[in-house]
Amino acid sequence: MTNPRRIQDGLGFFGTFLGKPGSVGAVLPSTRYLARALVGRLEMQPGELVVEYGPGTGPMTTVVRELLPKTARYLGVELEPKFHELLTRRFPQMDFHLGNAADIVQILAARGLPRPQRILSGLPFASLPAKVQDAVVDGIVECLGEGGDFRTFQYMHAYGMKSARRFRALMAERFANFERIGPVIRNLPPAFVLRYWGARRAIR
Ligand SMILES: C[S@@+](CC[C@H](N)C(=O)[O-])C[C@H]1O[C@@H](n2cnc3c(N)ncnc32)[C@H](O)[C@@H]1O
Repeated sequence: MTNPRRIQDGLGFFGTFLGKPGSVGAVLPSTRYLARALVGRLEMQPGELVVEYGPGTGPMTTVVRELLPKTARYLGVELEPKFHELLTRRFPQMDFHLGNAADIVQILAARGLPRPQRILSGLPFASLPAKVQDAVVDGIVECLGEGGDFRTFQYMHAYGMKSARRFRALMAERFANFERIGPVIRNLPPAFVLRYWGARRAIR
C-alpha cells in the first residue's frame, strides 16, 4: 500500500475508532507483516471459500487478493457501513456482506455458499462483550468446513487481559488444536496470530 493511502486509511480508521472504540478495537489498520502472518498460505481447491470477519480498510483482504487462487471464493463480513462501502469500492472483484459475523450461518445459507475452509478474523475479541464473543465462536464452530481452520490475532499488550484469556479458554473448549505464531513485532501494536483447527461440533 502506498504511503498516502496508508495515511488516509489510518486517519479514517482512527476517526471510526473514536466513534466506536469497542467494535473497531484498534487505533490503526494492521500492517502488511501482520496481514501475511494471519492469512498464511492459501492453497484452496476450486470452489472452496475463505471468509474474513472485520476486514476494516482491507489490509488482510489485500493479501488474500494476492494469494487466493482465481477458482476459489471469498466473502468479507463487515459491521461498519463506512468500511463496507470503502471495501466494495477498493476490491470490486471481491464480495462483502454488511452485517454481523455472529450471523455467519444465516449469511452463508442466504448466499448459497459452502462451509468455509478458512476463516480469517480481524474482530477485536478482547474488547467485545462476552455475549458477542460466544455468538461469534458458536457461528465459527457451526460453519467451518471439515479440515478447515480459523485464524485471528491478539495484541501482545492485551494478551493477558481477562477478556482475551476468556476468548482463548472458550476456543480451547471448542477446538482440538491450537498454534500461536509470533509475536509479529512489525505491527503497531505487536501481535500474536492464533490458529485453531479441529472444531468440536455438537452431535445432533
Ligand atoms: C481491529 S479492526 C481490524 C480491521 C482490519 N482487519 C485490520 O486488521 O486492520 C476490527 C474490525 O472488525 C469490525 N467488526 C467489529 N465487530 C464486528 C462484527 N460483529 N461483525 C463484523 N465485523 C465486525 C470493525 O468494524 C472493524 O472493521
